[in-house]
Amino acid sequence: MNKLQWEEKFNTGITVIDGQHQRIVKYINELHEATDQNIERKQVEKILVKLVEYTLTHFAFEESLLIDSGYQYLDEHKKSHQAFCKKLSDLEDKFKSGQNVAPLLTQLLSDWLFEHIVQEDHQYVDCVRNFFLEN
Ligand SMILES: [Fe+2]
Repeated sequence: MNKLQWEEKFNTGITVIDGQHQRIVKYINELHEATDQNIERKQVEKILVKLVEYTLTHFAFEESLLIDSGYQYLDEHKKSHQAFCKKLSDLEDKFKSGQNVAPLLTQLLSDWLFEHIVQEDHQYVDCVRNFFLEN
């Protein structure tokens, strides 16, 4: 897999969200590099944990923002995050059982993340923007 490149179309225009998304992409690239260089499992695990934890933190942040702004599709959005969390925990289990899941995780994250950002995250932009303009 090639390094993930941030593209203009991924920007929501909400600075804090774009910053968090870019950080997730940075961690995915770190994972990709670690896999390429065939570094020891312990190191790969550290990056994996960092990536998973940060992704979860980002989801929680995003959901609280959507709650504050009264986003009408909050439940659907949360379900999408939950489905992804399930994929992550399945992959973590595989990793713990000794399999090398880094390439798979990288692919999953890149496919899912960009699709989620472009389709689902972009849908809440107006709602969140209006909330900030009013408050
Ligand atoms: Fe999201």
